[in-house]
Amino acid sequence: MKKRLGPSDRLYPMPCPLVVGGSGEQVDTLAVAWIGIAAGSPPSVAMALRDTRHTLALIRDGREFTVNIPATRLAAEVDFCGITSGKATDKFAATGLTLVPAAVVSTPIIAECPYNMECRVTHEVDIGHYTLVVGEVVETHADEHVLDATGEKVDVGLLDPLVYIAGSREYRALGPVVADAFSIGRSIAAPDAEQDGGTGS
Ligand SMILES: Cc1cc2nc3c(=O)[nH]c(=O)nc-3n(C[C@H](O)[C@H](O)[C@H](O)COP(=O)(O)O)c2cc1C
Repeated sequence: MKKRLGPSDRLYPMPCPLVVGGSGEQVDTLAVAWIGIAAGSPPSVAMALRDTRHTLALIRDGREFTVNIPATRLAAEVDFCGITSGKATDKFAATGLTLVPAAVVSTPIIAECPYNMECRVTHEVDIGHYTLVVGEVVETHADEHVLDATGEKVDVGLLDPLVYIAGSREYRALGPVVADAFSIGRSIAAPDAEQDGGTGS
């Protein structure tokens, strides 16, 4: 028996990257759980930012942002950036997180986060008190120690990304691998099925 819980903004689980906006002396970051891939081609990220966020103002000015995936060991730093506004506090000085130049955009990336995406804003959509910001991913970076044996792909076990659980307000780590995607589904017999080989990943 299912229980109706009403309209909700909860989706389980969520990522929890640090999104950076701005450049030069005017840089800020915030924790963003309402974020995901919006398109594969061009590769695009969509995120919902409340209109009061200082980082959003910087992103609107510069039309660029970076998405920085923290490992679980950075939970305290991420949470600090998610409960403190950069209007009055230098979050980088407070947490010790270090900004380093990106390759393509003028907004920096965070050195301590092992995976980083550089984005240029392509769309802004107003939704209530939030703005849905869509950005094209123009470059990505990974620390060598989170790459798999081929040296080309991120090994998510090594990345150990911080996961956010809304409702219980917990940070968690990923669990074990349970199956191969675009593969285990073939074990279900359906002779006439048209099956996608997986353009996504
Ligand atoms: C776990 C977590 C997730 C968050 N996700 C979002 C989000 O998706 N969108 C948003 O606008 N704020 C989100 N926040 C709140 C901002 O990170 C927070 O208000 C931050 O202090 C804003 O900083 P700024 O004003 O310096 O930009 C989140 C906070 C936490 C702790």
